[in-house]
Order: sequence, then C-alpha cells, then structure tokens
Amino acid sequence: MNAITRQETAALDVPLVSFNLNGRDVTGRSTETLLQVAKREGVEIPHLCYMEGLEAVGNCRACMVEINGERVLAPSCCRVPTAGMKVVTNSERAVASQKMVLELLLSDMPETDYTRHNEVDDWAGKIGVGKPRFEARKQVRQDLSHPAIAVNLDACIQCTRCLRACRDEQVNDVIGLAFRGDEAKIVFDMDDPMGASTCVACGECVQACPTGALMPAREAALVVPDKQVESVCPYCGVGCQLTYNVKDNKILFVEGRDGPANHGRLCVKGRYGFDYAHHPHRLTKPLIRRADAPKNGEFTMDPDHVMDVFREASWEEALAFAGGKLKGVSVGMKYTF
Ligand code: SF4
Ligand code: SF4
Ligand code: FES
Repeated sequence: MNAITRQETAALDVPLVSFNLNGRDVTGRSTETLLQVAKREGVEIPHLCYMEGLEAVGNCRACMVEINGERVLAPSCCRVPTAGMKVVTNSERAVASQKMVLELLLSDMPETDYTRHNEVDDWAGKIGVGKPRFEARKQVRQDLSHPAIAVNLDACIQCTRCLRACRDEQVNDVIGLAFRGDEAKIVFDMDDPMGASTCVACGECVQACPTGALMPAREAALVVPDKQVESVCPYCGVGCQLTYNVKDNKILFVEGRDGPANHGRLCVKGRYGFDYAHHPHRLTKPLIRRADAPKNGEFTMDPDHVMDVFREASWEEALAFAGGKLKGVSVGMKYTF
C-alpha cells in the first residue's frame, strides 16, 4: 500500500465541494485539481507536463477541458473544482484541442524509440490521433557525454518535468529551460554537456521524462523485463524502496518505488549501482581461510583466484567458526579501570 503523504493528510481537512463532470455529479476538494478528480472518477484526460508529486505548471495544454460559462478552455491540471462548476472533458471543442496538441507534439517525435512508454504516443493512440500533418522541427544532436544518462533532445517536448524533478524533488537545480522561441531547449547548468555539468546522476529526471528524451545510457532499458522484483536499496540505511527489472536473471534497470523514505526517488547508487550483483568477484557462498594458506605480513590475494586462499563452507560451519573466534576473544578480554 502506498504511504499517505503530508499533503494528502492535510487535504482530508478541506471540505468537499460538489460539481458536475461530464454530466455526472461528483465531489472534490479545492486542494486537488480537476485532472486528479477526473482520474479518481475513472475519466481519462490526456496530460503530459503534469506528473503526480511535481508542481503543476500547465505548459503542454494537452489536458484542456471546457468549463460552463468560461470563454476559453482551461487546463485541468491547474484548475480546482468549485461548488456548482460544470466541467466537460469530452466535448467536441475540448477533444479537438487535446488532439491538436498531441498531433503537433507527435510531429516532432523522432523515428527512434527512446523508451518503451512514450506518453505522447500513448495519449495520441488513446484519443485517436493519426499520422501528423505537420513537418517535424529541426533535429538536435544526441548528448552522450554522461556515463549513466543519454540526452536525446530530439524527443523533448519541453514539458519541464525533468527540470522540476531536478530542482524541486532532488534540490539539485542542474536543469533549466533556456533560450526563446524555437531555440528554446533544456540545458544543463550553462548549456554544458550533461557529463560536464554538476549533475549528481540521481536519474530523477530520467524517471520523470515522458518521452525518453532523457534515458538510461544502457540500451538495456529498452528491453522488456521478464520479471520485476520489489526490493530495498542495498546501500545506505535510508531504506529507499525500488523495483529491479530483470531478464534472464540479470538486472536490466532500476526504478524508484513509493516508500516512506523515498516516495519513488533514488540516488545514483540505488538507481545505477547494480553491476556488483553480477560481478564475477561477488561472494555468494561463505568462505573460510584454508589451513594451508595462513596469514602473513606480505599477504596479497588475486580476486580472480580467491580459492587459493579460501575454501567453501556451509553457513552453519562459517557461523560456528566466526562465533567461536569471537567467544575466544571475549573470554580472553581483561578490563582495567
Ligand atoms: S540526474 Fe539528478 S542531478 Fe542530474 S540532471 Fe537529472 S535530476 Fe538533476
Ligand atoms: S527532457 Fe523529457 S522531461 Fe525534460 S522537458 Fe524534455 S520531454 Fe520533458
Ligand atoms: S498536463 Fe495540463 S497543461 Fe500539461
């Protein structure tokens, strides 16, 4: 079960208001958006720049809805319900607007897939947007300067989810939206290559990106996993929850999972530091030093040949051996005051 956030707890104190959604009376709170209420009520509205947990900025305009009495359409990710409001998400006008946004964005999508779940493609498919009628914008070169993250701005829709994830969630503030008009683009620090920027490689931007414009540098992230293993990060004691995506018993990539300590976020170690699990030097069975390889001052060990020095043991033997040695130390210990 997902943990209840502080905001959710606070929201419970806010009174409910009744309003009309697609001809149905529903209730919502002034702390939630029309998009959130619609989702809860099973009404799907396309959305791209909106992401649960990030501040709503309303810049993609994919989520436009019609509100009775208002001259223009409204972005449902930024509007809250008020008593008696009449909202229509599927009117001819609202759908035409949603489709136009999706078609324009779709026309800019590159041929190459950078993710298995491109949200522009997904929404375009859901609301029936076919082959776009518009020309693609000029393509941007890939930035492969970062060891963990590939930057494919040809697939960027400038939704700024990455920027908000970096600035507001991780408080790193590496990413910005710079320049103007059709020169506008996502930049790292002062438009540096990502690998030369102050990025700490937490990958939060990758997790937030809806199109794969920011993706893991390993192509393994495009492979379909055959199982997902819910686990806890093995590094520090914070206890971030994560999901290992596994194929043929090998970890392909890691995703943050909603847990009380991390709410889906991870740092560089949890997200990218999983090679050790498959490293040939990794110890998977208990070992005990061989009687014919005693310790001496010049001792070195070749990690490719640990069995020159150790032998395999059962857990029972290894624990009894270690416990016996500790007991010997404590019995021989003398306290002086
Ligand atoms: S990996 Fe982390 S620090 Fe680097 S740009 Fe993305 S969110 Fe910011
Ligand atoms: S890189 Fe991805 S998350 Fe960032 S603005 Fe572009 S599409 Fe949005
Ligand atoms: S999802 Fe509402 S404007 Fe982008």
